[in-house]
Amino acid sequence: TIIVLDYGSQYAQLIARRVRELQVYCELFHWNTPPEEILALNPKGYILSGGPASVYEEGAPTLPAYVLDSGLPVLGICYGMQLLTHDLGGKVAPGGEREYGHAKVNVNVDNPLMPQGDYEVWMSHGDRVEGLPPGFELLGSSANSPWAVMGNAERRIYGIQFHPEVHHTPQGMTILENFVDAICGAERDWTPKHIIEKSVADIRAQVGDARVLAAVSGGVDSSVAAALVHRAIGGQLCALFVDNGLLRQGELESVQVALNEHMDGSLNVLDASQDFLSALSGVTEPEAKRRAIGETFIRKFESFARQQENIDFLMQGTIYPDVIESRAPERSAAQVIKSHHNVGGLPKDMHFALVEPLRYLFKDEVRRIGAALGLPDELIWRQPFPGPGLAVRCLGEVTAERLATLRAADAIFTSELRAAELLEQPGGSDTGIAQAFVALLPVKSVGVMGDQRTYQETAVLRAVSSQDFMTADWVRLPYELLARVSSRIVNEVKGVNRVVYDLTSKPPATIEWE
Ligand code: XMP
Repeated sequence: TIIVLDYGSQYAQLIARRVRELQVYCELFHWNTPPEEILALNPKGYILSGGPASVYEEGAPTLPAYVLDSGLPVLGICYGMQLLTHDLGGKVAPGGEREYGHAKVNVNVDNPLMPQGDYEVWMSHGDRVEGLPPGFELLGSSANSPWAVMGNAERRIYGIQFHPEVHHTPQGMTILENFVDAICGAERDWTPKHIIEKSVADIRAQVGDARVLAAVSGGVDSSVAAALVHRAIGGQLCALFVDNGLLRQGELESVQVALNEHMDGSLNVLDASQDFLSALSGVTEPEAKRRAIGETFIRKFESFARQQENIDFLMQGTIYPDVIESRAPERSAAQVIKSHHNVGGLPKDMHFALVEPLRYLFKDEVRRIGAALGLPDELIWRQPFPGPGLAVRCLGEVTAERLATLRAADAIFTSELRAAELLEQPGGSDTGIAQAFVALLPVKSVGVMGDQRTYQETAVLRAVSSQDFMTADWVRLPYELLARVSSRIVNEVKGVNRVVYDLTSKPPATIEWE
């Protein structure tokens, strides 16, 4: 295991993901985590992340003693390097100006981290190292950071001022690989096959002969989690898909086929669309819709669960970023923009222990596991779809008729994007489509079709690129495609006579309309 200590860098998670991509198991911890928790993982080396603080200011995060005491290899990145320098008796000072962006580092001393040569790197720092600690050697410099790479070969401690984890540092993966492999000698066994074997063994050990209840949504996380649990305990898994009637065209069928194939046909599908429609009747305020849907879901789930016998466990599709983010107390104080709903919030008298097979996996690992388990690509690369479904894309009142209109328009947009090959592997790119959908507005406008006056609602097309769905930009779709989608929707979909394209990024807008 490699341990990344998080000093508040926006890239800390990324460091851990990169190390995992090298098939080395890695966990991320706040720098101040109790040492027992970390030492229990039997670390092979430490990486100290960057961070916004200055080492010499009061209250700045520090280097816990066990890190250097362990005698294990350490790689300090940016703030991490400055921290090593400061603690070991070197000099850190404000860099004069902040250095942000591309830079060139020249390495001119033989060392196992970075072979001699020129490197394109990404810098993002204010302070810099200005004097090495005793026992350290200067290995490389850039124009603005004369001490850009330093190392102590004997103690296997290295510091780099730049960020190897971002893709603007093209040789960053090699540098990280040299650290975890050549310097730490960490085992490279974090492969899908190994992960699956380990979680199957863990699930069996945890669950024994008991039954596990799982709500699946058709999303990547709950599907992969359920497929893993099924691989581990087969028929002891009781999986439920609640059809809330707020799904897109063909979605229920495709999810059902894909999941059933993996569960020997044992998926339970509960048609609750009427209950959801009644709960939504007359409700137009977005948060009220979300509440109505969340409550209906829990009621349905609960009554299903009460009919089952011998269930001791509840499966959840929690993934590692959820775990990391829920650790940070300052985040939970954040303002609620939208109340996301996931399974949870079950009545107090229902006691289940949790089975969370994806608790230590990043999203890209979840996808790789899904592929290794044989789940279909459409499911693995599915775009995010909000828990409250089409209800939050059907602005105003949600009725069966308006849902049908929305579904038809959305299917046209999606199929045209797919035909133009713009929907391949959503996510993970700066310019491709991460999410695309139609929203239906309760805004009527006047049109003319044939010689007839029309007075109908408005369809909005939304297509965004995003890395993490925290920020997003609207996609510059080709005019020809927009034209075709618009004319098809107006011609083929009853109830819509006007189509508009949403040109707002996030922030200030959100991706969904409600
Ligand atoms: P917003 O609209 O807040 O959405 O920019 C960010 C991402 O989250 C999805 N989303 C949800 N996902 N339950 C979910 O599981 C929800 O209630 C929910 N609301 C929004 C949204 O589709 C986008 O990918």
